[in-house]
Amino acid sequence: MPSTSLPDPLLQRLGAIEQRLQAIEQSKRNATLTITRQLEAFIQLHTLIGSIPGQLHGWPISADFALRMLHQLLAEPPELVIEFGSGTSTYLLLQGLALAYPQRSGSAQGARSAPQLLSYEHLPQFHQLTAELIAPGRLRRHAQLLLAPLEPWSDASGSYSYYSQLERITAAAIALRRKRQRPLHRVLVIVDGPPGATGPQARYPALPALLQAIPADPARPLQITLLLDDLIRADEQATAASWQALLADRGIAASRRDLPFEKGAMELRFPL
Ligand SMILES: C[S@@+](CC[C@H](N)C(=O)[O-])C[C@H]1O[C@@H](n2cnc3c(N)ncnc32)[C@H](O)[C@@H]1O
Repeated sequence: MPSTSLPDPLLQRLGAIEQRLQAIEQSKRNATLTITRQLEAFIQLHTLIGSIPGQLHGWPISADFALRMLHQLLAEPPELVIEFGSGTSTYLLLQGLALAYPQRSGSAQGARSAPQLLSYEHLPQFHQLTAELIAPGRLRRHAQLLLAPLEPWSDASGSYSYYSQLERITAAAIALRRKRQRPLHRVLVIVDGPPGATGPQARYPALPALLQAIPADPARPLQITLLLDDLIRADEQATAASWQALLADRGIAASRRDLPFEKGAMELRFPL
């Protein structure tokens, strides 16, 4: 047998090339898995609500996050949905609410008990696009699509730019607590804006602003479920950690679950 021994530097290079090839193979497998999961989620979404007139990649939420939102709406129908960052998600939320509250919008009593959606959008062009997207929705009249330009917002942790018109949340929460139809009212909060380019930890104000807008009332508690998109980004991870610290500081018991989605996501649940 001829000797197959190669010089050490060459062996090292071959080893490095082999490792690189294995990494490329793994990343191809991961990409295929991600596409497959998005397709599966998209098919399930389509089965639930039919055709979807917006995109589910890039700037809009991905199909996996959309499906989680829909499942949450159906499993624990909220009376109030607050969304930061409008778009395809707004359309899906309204479709999901229509499924979760099937007969309520026909009668006068139904109209009174129909859920409310507060959707915040800071840019006029996207406000207009979302308005067109949701126009045909059955629960359109229960949606307040707010054009809410960013304005300075600060707390002890720093200064930020955040959506204006946050007082609309207070008004909606007061109205909700007055309804007293259930021992526990549910609020779903979707955090997918503003974009990271508007400043570091751009989405951080969502939670402290919510705590400010909805003062705790143990006699008539609200169950808050918050879904944060884009947890694969360092900024959103820092925001999630700051929120947990803030809730612990206020003595609010919260449970956090990270969701293994394409862009990463987090679910935070707590009473107010
Ligand atoms: C992550 S996007 C929100 C997407 C939304 N939740 C959806 O599912 O379509 C956050 C904000 O970015 C802005 N935005 C949306 N699409 C954009 C685009 N293609 N280029 C730049 N900004 C965009 C809008 O102001 C939007 O509210």
